[in-house]
Amino acid sequence: MGYRVVVAGATGNVGREMLNILAERQFPVDEIAALASRKSLGTEVSFGDKTLNTQDIDQFDFAGWDMALFAIGSEATKKYAPVAAAAGCVVIDNSSLYRYDPDVPLIVPEVNADAIEGYSKKNIIANPNCSTAQMVVALKPLHDRARIKRVVVSTYQSVSGAGKEAIDELWDQTKGMYVPGQEVAPKKFTKQIAFNVIPHIDVFMEDGSTKEEWKMVAETKKILDPSIRVTATCVRVPVFVGHSEAINIEFEDHLDEDEARDILREAPGILVVDKREDGGYVTPVECVGDYATFISRIRQDSTIDNGLNLWCVSDNLRKGAALNAVQIAEVLGNRVLKKG
Ligand SMILES: NC(=O)c1ccc[n+]([C@@H]2O[C@H](COP(=O)([O-])OP(=O)(O)OC[C@H]3O[C@@H](n4cnc5c(N)ncnc54)[C@H](OP(=O)(O)O)[C@@H]3O)[C@@H](O)[C@H]2O)c1
Repeated sequence: MGYRVVVAGATGNVGREMLNILAERQFPVDEIAALASRKSLGTEVSFGDKTLNTQDIDQFDFAGWDMALFAIGSEATKKYAPVAAAAGCVVIDNSSLYRYDPDVPLIVPEVNADAIEGYSKKNIIANPNCSTAQMVVALKPLHDRARIKRVVVSTYQSVSGAGKEAIDELWDQTKGMYVPGQEVAPKKFTKQIAFNVIPHIDVFMEDGSTKEEWKMVAETKKILDPSIRVTATCVRVPVFVGHSEAINIEFEDHLDEDEARDILREAPGILVVDKREDGGYVTPVECVGDYATFISRIRQDSTIDNGLNLWCVSDNLRKGAALNAVQIAEVLGNRVLKKG
């Protein structure tokens, strides 16, 4: 016996990946519904070797469905997640709407799967920001060994993290650079993204940081440990899929780079590719379609007593969103609903 599963936002980047990953991992599905906005009514989406017709979320009755994986943005989530949850369908949400709600668990299964028990307060579970998800996977095993005090992270985030229109903007702007008269002005981004980098993701906060940077701080504390101090600079780069991060970590205890490499090699969800030679590291184009968080360039930071630097790359549509949501669904199924 399996589950009756809803995927909301099935026509979007994350929604399509959730359908792919549910099929790839042979999630025990008895019935599946693909939802999006009214304008996508009838749009065909793939689920393994099946084709599903997208339904209008506004007309959908969530009663009798076990779980709904949402990827429809915060505004629509605000309207529909409480409806699904009240109907007894557990929502696993990709938006930022519920991530900081104390009554909603924020989960990365490799780090804090036990937090699943808190789902019942609202029947909602939150999925973290893409940049946070891959970073906490890398930090957790190192924190367990040597206690992390402080993290300084710079991100190099792909355009797919900003939705399907952002992918089109990079593509069209890049093509437009070569055809006189067909230049494409910035619309989704604040400045030209083709052949450029933009040190601005999400809105500005009062202290001068951006909301994306704030999310990395707040979410790392909620998922991993509130005592860890994090400072982040988040940058959009002209890459289609795959987020990269340069992470500097300060520990309470000494941690040798070789021991850190061994710990990371054994850790769940991580693949270490760290050869000190040309090409002996992972770049975003190589992580696309993969489940792993890749770690390269592990080295001591000799400017502080107990410091390490590393390079972390992952598919933002997978570990950063869809894969993590499906992993949460697996934990929910195995530990709580127990139907599969
Ligand atoms: N991309 C990432 O790396 C990433 C990572 C973590 C979290 N997220 C979050 O995941 C969510 C989706 O992101 P995405 O990248 O997949 O965006 P996207 O490609 O732009 O897709 C958005 C999806 O939401 C649907 N939608 C929008 N408004 C709706 C409404 N009022 N009612 C019903 N459906 C609606 C769209 O349906 P239509 O096609 O019918 O408009 C589409 O299926 C966002 O909350 C985002 O913050 C994304």
